Amino acid sequence: MKILLTGKTGQIGGELNNLVGNLGTLVTVDREHLDLSKPNSIEPAILEIQPDIIINAAAYTAVDKAEEEADLAMTVNSVAPGMLAKAAKKVGAGLIHYSTDYVFDGRSKTPYKEEDPTNPLSVYGKSKLAGEKAVAEAEIPYLILRTAWVYSLHGKNFLKTIKRLAEEKDTLRIVDDQIGAPTWARSIAEGTHKILQQCLNQNWPKTANPSSSGIFHLSCKGKTSWHGFAKKIINLSNTSKNTKLLAIPTSEFSTPAARPPYSLLSNEKMQNVFAVDMPHWKDALKDCMSSKREI
Ligand SMILES: NC(=O)c1ccc[n+]([C@@H]2O[C@H](COP(=O)([O-])OP(=O)(O)OC[C@H]3O[C@@H](n4cnc5c(N)ncnc54)[C@H](OP(=O)(O)O)[C@@H]3O)[C@@H](O)[C@H]2O)c1
Repeated sequence: MKILLTGKTGQIGGELNNLVGNLGTLVTVDREHLDLSKPNSIEPAILEIQPDIIINAAAYTAVDKAEEEADLAMTVNSVAPGMLAKAAKKVGAGLIHYSTDYVFDGRSKTPYKEEDPTNPLSVYGKSKLAGEKAVAEAEIPYLILRTAWVYSLHGKNFLKTIKRLAEEKDTLRIVDDQIGAPTWARSIAEGTHKILQQCLNQNWPKTANPSSSGIFHLSCKGKTSWHGFAKKIINLSNTSKNTKLLAIPTSEFSTPAARPPYSLLSNEKMQNVFAVDMPHWKDALKDCMSSKREI
């Protein structure tokens, strides 16, 4: 079983790189070897590697910058996954691809299910939704794992920003009216590993069981706001500084890209089909902040 992983320098890709090697022969390609902003290079690369499974953890993830780099975001997040899926079809591979809670507009009051109507508010969200559609259209065995509010000790993310700012500033103003589930990249990688193992046990992708293909939500349990997340990060940090946290509304924190006010994902389908039990976000955060393993 040959598994091709893109995005190994990213948060989720880095964790996957450490985990999925025991499921087959792992081949990784970084931007230098396969640049997803040049989608025409994708098919030749896949034909050469001949993977059985492609895990696409690469993406354009700069949510605010995407507002001014819409073409690039669209190419990397939509055209490239579509090309990966078409190339997967040619070599008979299955595709695991990641997507986001930002495909929703946040008007729901209950956790979003996979089939709920999408309505992304940002260029990033639109590009990820277009990527989902491009993957599904290829009619291959695929899993789209939508996740949310990803952090790790590696890369650019909210956890690292708050830890840095808490050392630098006396007061932090953090948005308190956007609700979601912070999700550790390692929890996503572990969930993906469990899902993939079960798929492989069912001889996926050669014989694809329809219930193990499609969109699945995969995020940590529980919910909080960015303010609640920041509060917990500061509580768990070994900082002598007594940084004050002020809860503010989104209207007082202007960003180029609009975010959904509520983006909790229901993990029910993933639990029913794959019985993967994701940790509570507070437990995962504690484990992450006390973890030493580099990726
Ligand atoms: N971060 C979040 O909060 C969040 C939330 C929900 C869903 N997701 C989804 O989860 C997935 C992984 O996100 P992440 O947070 O792990 O991402 P990340 O840490 O930002 O890493 C992105 C990865 O994509 C690679 N990449 C970007 N542009 C590329 C290109 N043109 N060609 C090849 N590789 C390229 C990066 O390579 P370089 O190191 O060379 O830049 C890096 O390895 C994505 O599909 C994302 O949309 C993320």
